[in-house]
Amino acid sequence: MTPGGVNSPVRAFRAVGGTPRFIVHASGAYLTDADGNDYVDLVGSWGPMLLGHAHPEIVDAVQRAVAAGTSFGTPSEPELLLAEELVARTPVDAVRLVSSGTEATMSAIRLARGCTGRDLVVKFAGCYHGHVDSLLVAAGSGVATLGLPGTPGVPDASTGQTIVVPYNDSAAVEQVFAEHGDRIACVITEAAAGNMGVVPPLPGFNRMLSETCARHGALLISDEVMTGFRVSRSGHWGLDGAHEGWRPDLMTFGKVMGGGFPAAAFGGRADLMSQLAPEGPVYQAGTLAGNPVATTAGYTTLRLATDAVYEHVDSVAGQVRELASDALSEAGVAHVAQGAGNLFSIFFVDGLDAVTDFEQAQRQQVERHKAFFHAMLDAGVHLPPSAFEAWFVSAAHDERAVETIAEALPAAARAAGSVPAR
Ligand SMILES: Cc1ncc(COP(=O)(O)O)c(C=O)c1O
Repeated sequence: MTPGGVNSPVRAFRAVGGTPRFIVHASGAYLTDADGNDYVDLVGSWGPMLLGHAHPEIVDAVQRAVAAGTSFGTPSEPELLLAEELVARTPVDAVRLVSSGTEATMSAIRLARGCTGRDLVVKFAGCYHGHVDSLLVAAGSGVATLGLPGTPGVPDASTGQTIVVPYNDSAAVEQVFAEHGDRIACVITEAAAGNMGVVPPLPGFNRMLSETCARHGALLISDEVMTGFRVSRSGHWGLDGAHEGWRPDLMTFGKVMGGGFPAAAFGGRADLMSQLAPEGPVYQAGTLAGNPVATTAGYTTLRLATDAVYEHVDSVAGQVRELASDALSEAGVAHVAQGAGNLFSIFFVDGLDAVTDFEQAQRQQVERHKAFFHAMLDAGVHLPPSAFEAWFVSAAHDERAVETIAEALPAAARAAGSVPAR
């Protein structure tokens, strides 16, 4: 009926074997499958569920929004309320709402090309920005999980306009600009890479990108679809740019800002955003963009995402990461546990203290992750079914959830350890 039985490849258990759980109910930190099994959820719908599942205030707000009409095709208040929240929390002057992260990055790139009159796009190996044609080269997420070099169906003319550079490699960025600087429309980067496992930018890397782009008349697009409104109230920019005194030219958002509904956005400097139709000539549109139900879920989520929420999520993420790393060390399993704010993942790699780029991330012994994943699942903890994805905790992860994880870890670590080293 559906290719691979899933509507997005990362949901399949291709990398770990077995069958994805069919979920019939989700509440707080827990998922319940069709067979009645409960799991502590460390996937969080791949990022959106910062407050946990079925938060009563979001459910209530959404029910009222549905009763007021599900789509108008003309401006409405919830989209303004969401836009106001986005602009208040980030350095963007204006936003355009869309329905998915892919649409956000695709539109931001079109805008960057439209504003600069240039075609080339620089991206980093292992970063994933959705399934946009020109960005599906050396991509992370499902493309990395399935070990694909790229994808058929994308014309060479599209990828031929993309220059791929190793993540965290400032010298390579400088070199690309030295060679092609006057033809580069933009650099797109994940504010912290989260789709090859979590690989934070080295100190000063994002600032260097911003300065290099500015020097060459190119634009920096910071993709915060995963990190936005999760790693701090202002996303990853709140952890670096806000303190270092720079801002990206354009930013993309998704996941948390939709509160579990299809809502995403791109935004940036006023002079760039005003180039979008109908104010300017760069065309971009969407029948369901700014949908009143999705935007209600989004602004209600952001209003509930207080400093206390971020403190709790940071603390639980720190505990879970440490528990997992301790259990693996105890079982003698070589690994790197690292993160960017509360976003973290475990790399099953040997002989490295830190993972800084895609080549290192790909050295993982994925068979070890596979054994670890299934032991955790059997013990009632649902991890991402890929060694290349972040673990997501939520404000609803309480002591009981952390205890379940702590109890599951030793056997899972031993299972990983029983897989022979490559
Ligand atoms: C950093 C980043 N950008 C873009 C996307 C694409 O978002 P969507 O899946 O909503 O199209 C993702 C999805 O995981 C992402 O992590």
